[in-house]
Amino acid sequence: MMIHTNLKNKQFHLTNGQVSYIFNVMKNGHLGHLYYGNALRHRNDFSHLQTVDVPTAASCHVYEDDPAFSLETLRQEYPAYGNSDFREPAIHVGIENAPNVPNFTYDSYKILKGKPSLKGLPSTYINEAYEASTLQIILKDEFLHVELALNYTIFQDKPVITRSASIKNNGTEKLIIERLMGASLDLPDKDFIFTHLAGTWSRERHVKERKLEMGIQAISSLRGASSHHHNPFLALKRPFTTEHTGEVYGFNFVYSSNFIMQVEVDHYDTARLTAGIHPFGFKWNLKPHEVFQSPEVVMVYSDQGLNGMSQAFHNLYREHLIPNHWRKEERPILINNWEATYFDFNEEKLVNIAKSASELGIELFVLDDGWFGKRNDDTSSLGDWHVDLNKLPNGLESLTKEISELGMKFGLWFEPEMISPNSDLYREHPDWAVGTPHQHTLGRNQLVLDFSRPEIVDYLYEKMAEIIKRTNLSYIKWDMNRNITEAFSQKLALNQQGEFFHRYILGVYNLYERLTNEFPNVLFESCAGGGGRFDPGMMYYAPQAWTSDDTDAIERLKIQYGTSFAYPVYSMGSHVSAVPNHQTLRTTPLSTRANTAYFGTFGYELDPLKLSEDERLEIKEQISFYKKHRGLIRDGLFYQLLSPFSENETAWMVVSQDQSEALVGYYKVLATPNSLKQQTLQLSGLNEAKAYQVAGRIYYGDELMQAGLQLPTEFNGVNSSSAKRGGDFQSNVFYIKSIEDLHFNDL
Ligand code: DGJ
Repeated sequence: MMIHTNLKNKQFHLTNGQVSYIFNVMKNGHLGHLYYGNALRHRNDFSHLQTVDVPTAASCHVYEDDPAFSLETLRQEYPAYGNSDFREPAIHVGIENAPNVPNFTYDSYKILKGKPSLKGLPSTYINEAYEASTLQIILKDEFLHVELALNYTIFQDKPVITRSASIKNNGTEKLIIERLMGASLDLPDKDFIFTHLAGTWSRERHVKERKLEMGIQAISSLRGASSHHHNPFLALKRPFTTEHTGEVYGFNFVYSSNFIMQVEVDHYDTARLTAGIHPFGFKWNLKPHEVFQSPEVVMVYSDQGLNGMSQAFHNLYREHLIPNHWRKEERPILINNWEATYFDFNEEKLVNIAKSASELGIELFVLDDGWFGKRNDDTSSLGDWHVDLNKLPNGLESLTKEISELGMKFGLWFEPEMISPNSDLYREHPDWAVGTPHQHTLGRNQLVLDFSRPEIVDYLYEKMAEIIKRTNLSYIKWDMNRNITEAFSQKLALNQQGEFFHRYILGVYNLYERLTNEFPNVLFESCAGGGGRFDPGMMYYAPQAWTSDDTDAIERLKIQYGTSFAYPVYSMGSHVSAVPNHQTLRTTPLSTRANTAYFGTFGYELDPLKLSEDERLEIKEQISFYKKHRGLIRDGLFYQLLSPFSENETAWMVVSQDQSEALVGYYKVLATPNSLKQQTLQLSGLNEAKAYQVAGRIYYGDELMQAGLQLPTEFNGVNSSSAKRGGDFQSNVFYIKSIEDLHFNDL
């Protein structure tokens, strides 16, 4: 049993032997929070875990005769503002011309086998009912005639609980929702490091940390996309938590638009986490009988450090978030023509690139931006989704045919949500662009299509479906190169403009839903000017995402390391590109570029016709190496070993679930002069009693994890003949295989 209820004490305990989440109905009918963390054994009564409140002169209290019962200090499940709790609430709703102090009290509960999906929204899912159980608590506000449902799902074999809220208007008047968070969590203390992933274009998801202090610390987006700048991920780790040990709570919001994730530390040093749609500018009009559903928050608890947390997210997303079809399917090694040609190509050039790539063993050719309308640079044609016959006079069909004759699959780039002012579509439908009647701000010379309008989504569906069918597409890179300004739809009433951002992303999800249902074999890679929408909402449809436009191997260490906090390595599009690198002008060895890119969905983003014979030979080896190990990258457990944010060295590894094999990546950014010290790298996740073969030696698992793997000798200015590595931007990848039939005494 994963959900225990005690109706006498009105308590609920979700547990699966790994985590426990316990709450109750307090005497005023609101939900109180009792505990979240490592699994506790079940007992009939947990009321002793409730905060013992000490009345203070300053606090307001709910009951005249009980000064200790103050919502200001009680830990709650889904707090509202207005009656003695002064912290930021989870919910704020009301009806026009009436007092706006919601008062939701417990009504009933339901336990559901499995996990219901969230209408119109991406969310984690199950394949078999036994994989999860869901507790639904119904609360009612008798004055507003509104029903609030809080959903808690616990997964059977994972330290994961997901939460969401929905609200139903049972009254006769319009309900105005100003805030409806996916989750709120009151933690008893503030002794945490607020850890998040921040950056900008070309340096996304760098790990940032700061100590929680009294006040509000938040990450958010108001850009209409989850954003390059803040990922909807937050971890609260204890000060001494490391990669391998210690307590950490991880939160990820399954949403791709405006969000907020914040922690409010109050005057008693307790911490309240809230995560949900950003309330700024949000105002939803809920008509009688309608329901509004919040997106989902995934919560992970680990007492095994950051790796324990990340692995829980990775396992969940691989098994319960990405489209089922891609769980076990191998992703093709691709070549993308963007950095090879930019907009300057013709059919012959593309076919030559594809031919040369196919000889190297590459499996998929992706034609990026510039194949449609009159798009010779980024100033025109978005929206005109028909092939540019000047560049490809024989059409896409002929190109696809030539590519498939090379034994390769064919993929295309789209930017469906955009419209160029210089396009036939804009000339025909200027009102289809997002913007106020007198103001449109350009970004990358383009405007955004109003995806809050179903007829526009329908139009894009027809266009894309037709091209997919006609060209037998295997892959789509779905880009989104600017954020939304003047968030105004010419179709929505003035008092509905607060719904715009959410309606927009529902339109995006709707298009993804229809295309992925209709064409389950087409692999979608999400992209937003690189990693501007790398979030679990997108991952529900697109199992891989273009991690960053920055393809520099050294920059990628930080980007991929940060991204791996929440997202499986196999979801990260990672390509080998030419040097000097187009984003940093840095020159790194070809081996290091591949050694970094292996830990992702592998590909190339260069002109293979410009490679030397030696480089071609090296690339052929890289490709066959990746083909051998991509199953391990897809299914294995990922361990962070050395962080690029604190060291000159970075290391990580992937271990198969049965611990029989592993792949280790080791990277050193700058060479160390006169480096004589014995260099070793302590590994993780292996079976300590198993013997493993690696780099020509045999070690036991415990030796590799405690004494460490001996790194090859580094050039020190003298030992040049025995040196196996050296120079800046050096790296090594080690394949480790267990030797089942060797016994200790044989070694
Ligand atoms: C931004 C993407 O991230 C790039 O990979 C490329 O597709 C360009 N857009 C094309 O305009």
